[in-house]
Amino acid sequence: MVAAGQPLDSLATRRAHLAALSQAAPVVLPSLLLCDFGNLEREIRRLEDAGVRALHLDVMDGQFVPNMTYGMPIVEACRRLTKLPLDVHIMIANPARYVRQFMAAGADNLTFHIEATAEPRPVIEQIHSLGGTAGIALNPATPLSAIDGCLDLVDVVLVMSVPAGFGGQKFHEVAIEKLQQLRRVVRPEVILEGDGGINEQTIARCHAAGCQFFVVGSAIFGRPDYATAVQGLVVHARS
Ligand code: DX5
Ligand code: ZN
Repeated sequence: MVAAGQPLDSLATRRAHLAALSQAAPVVLPSLLLCDFGNLEREIRRLEDAGVRALHLDVMDGQFVPNMTYGMPIVEACRRLTKLPLDVHIMIANPARYVRQFMAAGADNLTFHIEATAEPRPVIEQIHSLGGTAGIALNPATPLSAIDGCLDLVDVVLVMSVPAGFGGQKFHEVAIEKLQQLRRVVRPEVILEGDGGINEQTIARCHAAGCQFFVVGSAIFGRPDYATAVQGLVVHARS
C-alpha cells in the first residue's frame, strides 16, 4: 500500500523500468504533439496496438518556446488512459515551478531544458524526491558543456535534433556528434534520447552514435498505419 502523498511509483522502481526498457533499445517513443487530440483515447489505443513502449508528451508554454501545446490536464488524461510510461518533455520557462504538478499529473520521467534554468541540480533533485526519473534536454545550439554540471545526477539526456517548439522540422546533424561525445562520458545507466526530425533516413546514424530512445512525431503521425511506421523505424535504426 502506498502511503498517502507518496508517489505511486518510487524512483527505484522507475529506474528499474527505464533500465529494462533500455534493454529493448532501439525504443521508439511517439511524440504526442501531432496526434489527433480530438480522439486522444483512440490515438493512444492505436499506439498501444502498434507496440510502443512509452509515450513522449510535449508540453510547451509559449514563453520558453514560441508555441503552446498543453499542460497538466492532458498529462492527467494520458495517465488515466494508459499504463504506458509517460516521458514528459517540458519546454517551459522556470521548470522548477511545475515539477510537483507534472509529477502529480502522472509523469514517470520528467525532462526539462538546461536553457530554462540556471540551477538544474535542485530541479533534478526535486523530481527524484517525488519518485520520478529526471532528464535534461539541450537544443542544437546549446553546447554539451552546458550540462556538464548535472551529468552525474540525470537519468536521461534528451539531445534535441531540432530547436524545441515544433514537429516536422529538419534534422540537425550536430545531434550526432553530441550523442557520440555523451556516450563516451555518461554513466552506462544514463539513457541517451534523441528528439526531432527522426525518421527512416536519420534514425540509423543516431542509433550508431549511441542513442537508445527515439522520439518521433511526423514520421509516425504522418502515416496511415502506426504499427508499420514504428516497425519500419526500428528496422532502419538497426540497418
Ligand atoms: C519538438 C518536440 C519533438 C517533436 C518531434 O519541440 O520536442 O518531440 O514533436 O516531432 P518530429 O519527429 O516531427 O520532429
Ligand atoms: Zn519532445
